[in-house]
Amino acid sequence: MRARIVILISGRGSNMAAILAAGLPLQVAAVISNLPEADGLELAAAQGIPTVVVDHRLYPTRAAFDAALAETIEGYAPQLVVLAGFMRLFTAEFVARFRGRLINIHPSLLPSFPGLHTHRQALAAGVRIHGCTVHFVTEQVDHGPIVAQAAVPVLADDTEALLAARVLRCEHVLYPRVLQWWAEGRLEDQGGGRIRVRGSFRSSGSLMTPEPDA
Ligand code: GRF
Repeated sequence: MRARIVILISGRGSNMAAILAAGLPLQVAAVISNLPEADGLELAAAQGIPTVVVDHRLYPTRAAFDAALAETIEGYAPQLVVLAGFMRLFTAEFVARFRGRLINIHPSLLPSFPGLHTHRQALAAGVRIHGCTVHFVTEQVDHGPIVAQAAVPVLADDTEALLAARVLRCEHVLYPRVLQWWAEGRLEDQGGGRIRVRGSFRSSGSLMTPEPDA
């Protein structure tokens, strides 16, 4: 039987779309959003994926929202909960309940630039290499065990939008790839906050920025 995942979104849903388009050996049991206006919901529904809204504004506390969200998720009995631009912070209780089953993509090379406006942070810091990270979620925001990262150059004339677009293209490759490995049972928790991906990988050399032409 194929493994089941649930995807959580809050907006555009381009990572969700990349996951749906990848033809992964898993079943997307539902797409859940905390906002009814999230564009990704329509996209998922158009592909026949069940969609659900658990509107956080209807709950008096974060704990009440998290409890309702957890119940909704558990209703689909997923083995993995995939955060794809889900813009709510979780309570420790929620994270504990889904420990090891909660995965996220963050648009920076963690542990650099946790939080919001990561591309702005990268430009302000003057880094020459930036990227994205897929990691398991722990209580500390944007700090869980790292599964995989993709790096891009930061170019001299970059704007926040240009850099964000370059990183996003990598996100759309990296997240489906990680979920494929997960579905194949290749992610191994080594303890101490470290994940090993089983299998052999080629080293694709180095990324140096700036790099002279020719
Ligand atoms: C992505 O940049 C993701 O890394 C971050 O939020 C953004 C979501 O974009 N967590 P989308 O909704 O997947 O298009």
